[in-house]
Amino acid sequence: MKVNELFAQNLLLWNRMQNTRSMPWKNVRDPYRIWLSEIMLQQTRVEQGLPYYQRFTEKYPEIFFLAEAPDDEVFKLWEGLGYYSRCRNLLFTARYIARELNGVFPKTYDEIRKLKGVGPYTAAAIASFAYDAPHAVVDGNVYRILSRVFGVLTATDSTEGKKQFADMAQELLPHHNPAEYNQAIMDFGATVCVPKSPDCPNCVMKDFCFAYQNDLVASLPYKAKKISRKHRYFIFFTIRAGNQTLVHKRTAKDIWHNLFTFPLAEVQTAEQLTDASFIASQLEAQFAGATIKAVSKTYTQALTHQHIHAIFVFATAAHLPAGAEANGWQAIPAATLKQYAYPKILNQFMQDETVTLTEFFK
Ligand code: ADE
Repeated sequence: MKVNELFAQNLLLWNRMQNTRSMPWKNVRDPYRIWLSEIMLQQTRVEQGLPYYQRFTEKYPEIFFLAEAPDDEVFKLWEGLGYYSRCRNLLFTARYIARELNGVFPKTYDEIRKLKGVGPYTAAAIASFAYDAPHAVVDGNVYRILSRVFGVLTATDSTEGKKQFADMAQELLPHHNPAEYNQAIMDFGATVCVPKSPDCPNCVMKDFCFAYQNDLVASLPYKAKKISRKHRYFIFFTIRAGNQTLVHKRTAKDIWHNLFTFPLAEVQTAEQLTDASFIASQLEAQFAGATIKAVSKTYTQALTHQHIHAIFVFATAAHLPAGAEANGWQAIPAATLKQYAYPKILNQFMQDETVTLTEFFK
């Protein structure tokens, strides 16, 4: 038997005999639920996505419920999952399908691929899970498995590599059960052929896995470039005036679109975040006469292409500045802070400093 056939056969055997992952969207045929779970699982681990899937399907059991939900409600429910463009696209697509397609989910790979927020991977997953269409999923997990088992040394981040892996994945797919095979390869990548220290001696592929046989497991898959992240430095102002505070809804074309933060100053260097007189001058520029009560430690958040460093300045003011709305700020009772959806770095701060915050706003 050729390695190609052995690979598919062993993968399916592994799936039936040893794959113990149970997930609520497995064996589901409802394209809405499959789509929802796949959008949530883009760049997200199953354990992290699962509770969100449960909350979403409970609140929005059908696409019409999601389509009619207010933006801020859906963003709040998405809070913590990250990559918020997924949430914006989710809403856009739910409304498009509900309103333009009368709630009928597209049925072919090409139609599904055209939906906003749906790339080749997600389209292949939906088309195979919902309709048994023979399209192989290809993502980082699949690159890893194929590069190791078949000894593909082409860089996965090159145009050539992407095409080679996509062609290979499609060739390997058994057309009689694409759904089971696609789910199996995803689970195999997540639980067996993991990036670091996989348990090769107990793997069903070990007899013919090129990387295992040639001691190349740790070196594959091969990537040409390292991603470089831009560093950004933020000073957030947690302001109290009476029982009011200020939040800022981010509407510009930048990170955290549609999420809320405190008013902020973006500064240039890491040193500025620890320079007390510089911080005071930044506060004064936006909130003349305000008094600093405390300054947090530096928090960080890694995004795909950016690394955020931020401090939070607790400051009191006699009253909120005139023209707050013009700055894009909203004055809200401090007691309602929890109702808004924030980036992870703010949630981290609020969680760590719950006591300080409660005391501050008392
Ligand atoms: N990642 C993306 N889609 C997935 C799925 N259906 N099962 C497990 N992991 C996934």
